Amino acid sequence: MPPDPDPTPIGLRRATLADGPRIEALVREGGGLDRNSAYLYLIMCRDFAETCWVAEGPRGAAGPLLGFVMGYRPPTRPEAAFVWQVAVSPAARGQGLAGRLLDAFVTGAEGASVLEATVTPSNTASRRLFEGFARRHDARLAIEPDLPAELFADGHEREDRFRIGPLRSQP
Ligand SMILES: CC(C)(COP(=O)(O)OP(=O)(O)OC[C@H]1O[C@@H](n2cnc3c(N)ncnc32)[C@H](O)[C@@H]1OP(=O)(O)O)[C@@H](O)C(=O)NCCC(=O)NCCS
Repeated sequence: MPPDPDPTPIGLRRATLADGPRIEALVREGGGLDRNSAYLYLIMCRDFAETCWVAEGPRGAAGPLLGFVMGYRPPTRPEAAFVWQVAVSPAARGQGLAGRLLDAFVTGAEGASVLEATVTPSNTASRRLFEGFARRHDARLAIEPDLPAELFADGHEREDRFRIGPLRSQP
């Protein structure tokens, strides 16, 4: 007998404008990320949808948002695809969903050969996520201090820049 299909398949797709408030809510409820304005999430979903992905369960947009990744292509580094925020709802963590979102993100970023992100030293889950991505893609991971703590007014930690590449098999 064939194995049962996954009873809770999770689908990924590019974000649309209507996902802006859902993403903002996930950031608010999931913790661990800087919470940006509702306006900014809307603008990202409208103008940067090429590099913004969401994950949903079988009920699609009628069900909860399970995860997202948002980023952009830095104009001064055309080889790079920069991950600005990635998050998975607490109930859906630990199943490889963030890794799937990063894979979709780079696969959809035409011509990108490097994945970039910044991560705080204390965010172990995020560091593991990007280390795992580098391993899976058999790519080099370079980490260097990027945004110093002094430049944040609110006691925010330093952000380290992660650069992963070269990535092969990009369309
Ligand atoms: C970071 C986050 C997105 C990971 O989501 P996830 O779907 O649970 O991650 P995955 O299941 O794809 O796991 C990816 C890797 O990270 C590791 N990992 C995930 N959560 C972890 C944790 N809390 N502690 C240690 N390692 C962890 C996994 O073991 C896996 O490692 P592997 O590749 O060696 O097997 C999620 O914890 C989250 O939303 N955190 C809050 C927001 C945040 O900090 N975002 C990142 C900064 S932009």
